[in-house]
Amino acid sequence: MFTMEALLVLIAASIIFLLVFQASRRNSKPKPGNIPPGDMGWPIVGETLMFLKPSLSTTVGDFMEQHMARFGKIFLSNLFGRPIVVSAEPELNRFMFKNDTKMFEPGWPKSFSDIAGKSSISFLVGDALKHMRSNIVEFLSTERIRNLFLQDMEYMASFVMSSWKDDTLISSLDEATKVNNHVTQVRYRHEKASNSPCFENFQFSFYIMVKNILSIEPEDPLIERLLKEYNTFTRGLVSFPLKIPGTRYWKGLKSRRILLEILYQETEERRIASGDKGGSKKKDDFLGWVIRNTDYSLEKIGDMMLHTLFAAHDTSSRAICLMIYFLDNCPKAIAELKEEFAGVITSKQQSGGSKLTYEDYKSMNFTQSVISETLRLGNIVSHIQRKLSTDIHFKGFLIPKGYHFVAHFSAVHLDPELFEDPQRFDPWRWLIGSSCGLKKRSSSEFMPFGGGARYCPGAEIARLEMAVFLHHLVRNYDWAVAEPDCPMTAPFVDFYKGLPIRVRRLTN
Ligand code: HEM
Repeated sequence: MFTMEALLVLIAASIIFLLVFQASRRNSKPKPGNIPPGDMGWPIVGETLMFLKPSLSTTVGDFMEQHMARFGKIFLSNLFGRPIVVSAEPELNRFMFKNDTKMFEPGWPKSFSDIAGKSSISFLVGDALKHMRSNIVEFLSTERIRNLFLQDMEYMASFVMSSWKDDTLISSLDEATKVNNHVTQVRYRHEKASNSPCFENFQFSFYIMVKNILSIEPEDPLIERLLKEYNTFTRGLVSFPLKIPGTRYWKGLKSRRILLEILYQETEERRIASGDKGGSKKKDDFLGWVIRNTDYSLEKIGDMMLHTLFAAHDTSSRAICLMIYFLDNCPKAIAELKEEFAGVITSKQQSGGSKLTYEDYKSMNFTQSVISETLRLGNIVSHIQRKLSTDIHFKGFLIPKGYHFVAHFSAVHLDPELFEDPQRFDPWRWLIGSSCGLKKRSSSEFMPFGGGARYCPGAEIARLEMAVFLHHLVRNYDWAVAEPDCPMTAPFVDFYKGLPIRVRRLTN
């Protein structure tokens, strides 16, 4: 039995331990030639909870703000149970991308590799990475974007918007439930608000990718099942890896299995039907391409398809929502977009064309600026992670082999030294002079699509999707956000209330 004295000694010892621990975990003085200053937080969890705390996606968040104020743009922390150097320094981020495959290796959390799959491109290195990348890049070629993706985008935009009823919060309860699966817990409390057309466009990019990966049309009943499982799959990607029923991680693994079963079955059917090389089930989609052009195992094909779907859909759909949100507060930009789109339509009518072409898209400078500004301010991918495979020396700091590394894009995109009044949505900052050309930014100051050997191969598709959706929306609808809402990073960008918008069809 404890006596009162023993209990007091124990309490005193615990307090002394905590004080010593707090004092020792701080390494706040920058020492040239040494590891960057920082705070290792608590044992095991370190500072992970603070890092993951939801923050407004147009800000750097409390974690970055406080750490940068204390330690500067390069600092040490302890996230996900490991030492990690966080960089908000454009030059260091550029250094990382330049040396990505030589000095760094993948460093994503365990939940991500378990659920996305170890053969997904984010975890490959060396020749395996080069090989898979070349297949993805070839499949997403400019030719294919011009001829096939653009057509699909035009069709899917009309398809999604055709279900919008005038002057109302669009979408049936079924639609809302389907879309609801996609978002954070907080949103579940806002059933009415999530019944909103903004999240219809989640399906817009999903339809485009599923059509191009698996040749499944939006009318196919299988698409609902895919979307439901896919949503659970993505929620598990960044979760605590606790494999017990009911956790996000457990559910994510379960949905991964179901999605893979569907993919494996389709792959096997195509392989059998074709005597391994095409035949009656030959389809001009990504799966068909991979079957014909690689000797990948079923497992590798499955991971590759799942990851590509995730990389393509979760990013573009959120970017479109953000664009709608920013424009809602900027009528001047909407007016300029209307003018730009009207100009494109007039010149098309004169030349006898009707469909939007790739050249039209390339000529839309103001639209391009709206897209760049949305990507800068909205920060869909706020940061990326790696692990060091060798010691690195940068500006007097040592970052040791085995440490993890975060290149923080949001902190750069919102740096007042680089972007004047960084929290203001200002598409005009991307234009040179009036509206005659696009301003080029240094590649280390603006990195929404990453850089180097892992630069996003879907960057052009993403921008095109945003442009096509915007073109259809602005030409055919007036819209207004129906309830105040704001984008939060948690860690994916999301809207608390689902960004409910009310639309009214324009009579052209
Ligand atoms: C607004 C939309 C998008 C954003 C902001 C975005 C951003 C990014 C970023 C930052 C990376 C680099 C990750 C890293 O360095 O670890 C990346 C990689 C990737 N993205 Fe995107 N992306 C978008 C859309 C797309 C689309 C539409 C596709 C496919 C059609 C796609 C496919 C990929 C793939 C396959 C990778 C992995 C590349 C590799 O590891 O080599 N992304 N994306």
